[in-house]
Amino acid sequence: MLYKDFGNTGCKVSAIALGTWGIGGAGWDTYDDEVRLDAIAAAVEQGINLIDTAPAYNAGAAEKLVGTALERWGLRDKVFLTTKTGNEFIDGKYVRNGRPERVLSLCQESLDRLRTDVIDLLLVHWPDPNVPFNETFAALRQLKEEGKVRHIGVSNFSREQMEEARQYCQIEAYQPQYSMVSRKSEELCRWATEQGMGVMAYGTLGGGILTGRYRTVQEFAPMDSRNRFYPFFKEPLFSQVMELVQVLEQIAAEHGGTPAQAALQWTAARSFVSTCLVGAQTRARVEENTKAFDWSLTEEECKRLDQAVEKAAL
Ligand SMILES: NC(=O)c1ccc[n+]([C@@H]2O[C@H](COP(=O)([O-])OP(=O)(O)OC[C@H]3O[C@@H](n4cnc5c(N)ncnc54)[C@H](OP(=O)(O)O)[C@@H]3O)[C@@H](O)[C@H]2O)c1
Repeated sequence: MLYKDFGNTGCKVSAIALGTWGIGGAGWDTYDDEVRLDAIAAAVEQGINLIDTAPAYNAGAAEKLVGTALERWGLRDKVFLTTKTGNEFIDGKYVRNGRPERVLSLCQESLDRLRTDVIDLLLVHWPDPNVPFNETFAALRQLKEEGKVRHIGVSNFSREQMEEARQYCQIEAYQPQYSMVSRKSEELCRWATEQGMGVMAYGTLGGGILTGRYRTVQEFAPMDSRNRFYPFFKEPLFSQVMELVQVLEQIAAEHGGTPAQAALQWTAARSFVSTCLVGAQTRARVEENTKAFDWSLTEEECKRLDQAVEKAAL
């Protein structure tokens, strides 16, 4: 495993982190809880030291599984535990809520589900346009003062929103979507890095499309994240991404590796990415992904991948 500085926090985080949106059990493929718990254990065994979760991942179900795994195998001290606030999953819908009283009560619920007394990093999941930032971030400051949260960050914020939030509270981390097929946040990632924030890229496998596991356009349920959240699973983007996947496959095959490993290596090599969040629900997937640094892309292969990424122009 490769470890990188997490902004100015003084913490080192694994360049691959475990994402738990799928593990929550809504919007992705279904597995038994024991399979999901084993994936969490495998992640820590393979050197992952950052787990990313959220109350919005199936209304607390992901946090509960993370809490169970950490307690069952005594792993809490090995993990930089990240969860979120300001966004909930109610009756199958994502609902933003940055009201200070809910930020405070939701944090207590997260602590209970995660079976811990401190959250290493609490992120505002999405900005709530209906609540002034000074109110939301005052609640976050309070949580830090009370020792319930160690660091505070934001996800899916614009630069203006981050600059405003910083007036009320120290912002130490930024979590945007960033991958070979989603580079719109690149400039903001560079800026956040210059500001000393840790950058957590999410969707680094493009929702799984960069693994080479999809060959044709498939139908997913309306609330499946591959239908609702990531746009690459439909044309015209699907065909554009397939060209890139072919290059990933050719290069990975030269090393006895996999396209997912090549994609993760490419993303982790960006100086403005502290960690790549990867959602994986089985031990086998976690083990494949965490072997990304067991081989290295050559300079020539990096150039080929850069060209393929530019050509995909996503
Ligand atoms: N802040 C935000 O707004 C936000 C938004 C999205 C995501 N996130 C975070 O970022 C994490 C990662 O993003 P994501 O989960 O949306 O997308 P992702 O990691 O790009 O892709 C997840 C998909 O890839 C599949 N996969 C993983 N490794 C694989 C492998 N080696 N071979 C084949 N398939 C593989 C997973 O399959 P299985 O499910 O079958 O294992 C799942 O279908 C999330 O879990 C969450 O923690 C945050």
